Amino acid sequence: MPPLTTQTTQPTQPYPGQRPGTSGLRKKVSVFQQPRYLDNFVQALFDVLPDAGGQTLVVGGDGRFHNRVAIQTILRMAAAKGYARVLVGQGGILSTPAVSALIRHHRASGGIVLSASHNPGGPEGDFGIKYNIANGGPAPESVTEAIYRRSLEVSTLHSIDSPDLPLDTLGQHTLHHTLVEVIDPVTTYAELMRGLFDFEAIRALFASGFRLRYDAMNAVGGPYAKALLEGELGAPAGTVVNAVPLEDFGGLHPDPNPVNATDLVQHMARPDAPDMGAASDGDADRNMILGRGFAVSPSDSLAVLAAHAARVPGYARGLQGVARSMPTSTAVDRVARRLGIPCFETPTGWKFFGNLLDAGRATLCGEESYGTGSDHVREKDGLWAVLFWLNLIAATGQSVPELVQALWRTDGRCFYSRHDYEGIASDRAEALMQGLREQLPTLPGRAVPGLASPQTIALADDFAYTDPVDGSISQRQGVRIVLSDGSRLVFRLSGTGTEGATLRLYLERHEADPARHSLDAQIALAPLIALAEALARVRHFTGLEQPSVTT
Ligand code: G1P
Ligand code: ZN
Repeated sequence: MPPLTTQTTQPTQPYPGQRPGTSGLRKKVSVFQQPRYLDNFVQALFDVLPDAGGQTLVVGGDGRFHNRVAIQTILRMAAAKGYARVLVGQGGILSTPAVSALIRHHRASGGIVLSASHNPGGPEGDFGIKYNIANGGPAPESVTEAIYRRSLEVSTLHSIDSPDLPLDTLGQHTLHHTLVEVIDPVTTYAELMRGLFDFEAIRALFASGFRLRYDAMNAVGGPYAKALLEGELGAPAGTVVNAVPLEDFGGLHPDPNPVNATDLVQHMARPDAPDMGAASDGDADRNMILGRGFAVSPSDSLAVLAAHAARVPGYARGLQGVARSMPTSTAVDRVARRLGIPCFETPTGWKFFGNLLDAGRATLCGEESYGTGSDHVREKDGLWAVLFWLNLIAATGQSVPELVQALWRTDGRCFYSRHDYEGIASDRAEALMQGLREQLPTLPGRAVPGLASPQTIALADDFAYTDPVDGSISQRQGVRIVLSDGSRLVFRLSGTGTEGATLRLYLERHEADPARHSLDAQIALAPLIALAEALARVRHFTGLEQPSVTT
């Protein structure tokens, strides 16, 4: 039996520059390669968790550079912590939604996800680690804060003196008293999907000649999409492209939006384009949906799924409620009103949906940042969203654009866009936000020029959220400025970037008139873009003439 080892180390500052309270640790690979850096985080985590005797831990990552090294370290430390069992994906691979599904399926006490989500990978790229709790979702702030505080004090690392385990073949190993099982990454997740969607109908859709192009962006979604779409649902070979997870994602930026998934967007614009396009991100929790020459805004995607959910077996009994992050468009609010179900508005970040899902108050939830999900797991889920769309297409006989345009005809169109100003100086970004906050009391009632009809500012605040389940309060979650016609501007700083600060400006305007639904979103939103500049002096504070990314 390999001996336990303890190592004394200097307490380190694992979070320099990182806001405590974000759901994990995300840094450049070079930072993670520092001696005892990852170890310090893992020890801090294990120190704040209760005794692991009899418990199961799930471990896996999106396969990016440093994944394999990190997993071996974690396995040795988990054995020293005394877990009864650790489930690890073959090759160290598990998508984020699959980790969530496995934690729930095996009643594990938690899981460790190794990913920096949609951030680029490779030796020069990013790496990340986060802990998910027994409900399958990201640890709440009380836990991440405790990990953070503990990380400042850790001076002893507990591990096992043992060689690396062979993770490329399925099998079982004993590490000290811990059983380490190398499992197939897809099996449990695939079973969950089979129980939610009408696989027969989707199979018939593909058999009828329906064509899909799923771009896995050389990331972890590939094996899942290939197994389900091509292996089980009869989609022709080649439906899933960039399907092998690569350590550097083949140099791609694995963020499924029209800016980073340009190859897919170009394919969908061709005369011989497939019927539907889809992409997922580094850890396969995000999704983008495209029709022929048509990009679905994530906010509209959530609204379409909610509107038709009853046609999908897993949701046939109807939805308890829906939830969206505050900056996400209000399209789903209108659907919820029609369905007579509650709609919750939460701060940005998936963890805020957890309580609503656990309490059975929301069934579907989503964010404007290409994340959609439901109570089947406690993470967003990219392939789930694609299967949902396929099921709806099969059940309604309508194409992707037809489903979205039908939504617009019924509820009006929410023109929507997000402008990101990346890599800006943190003090300038803070100054912009501070300037806005100081103006807030003076804004209500102010006239806004340039819109089709005269508008005034109806509400201006820094969004605060009281969790309806546990009463916890989250303040300063983004400055929002709402006009009398419901149009909105939202400003907030990213919590997930790894270089400088990123300002996100979210713009939304509702248009009831179908004659104007085909307008370009940036044109429809131009008066709001001008208002944002006038109020926040975005160019001045960011030093950028244009957003670095517009979605
Ligand atoms: C971004 C998205 C947010 C999402 C998060 C994790 O966070 O905006 O919706 O939950 O990534 O995928 P941000 O960088 O804006 O803090
Ligand atoms: Zn992700």
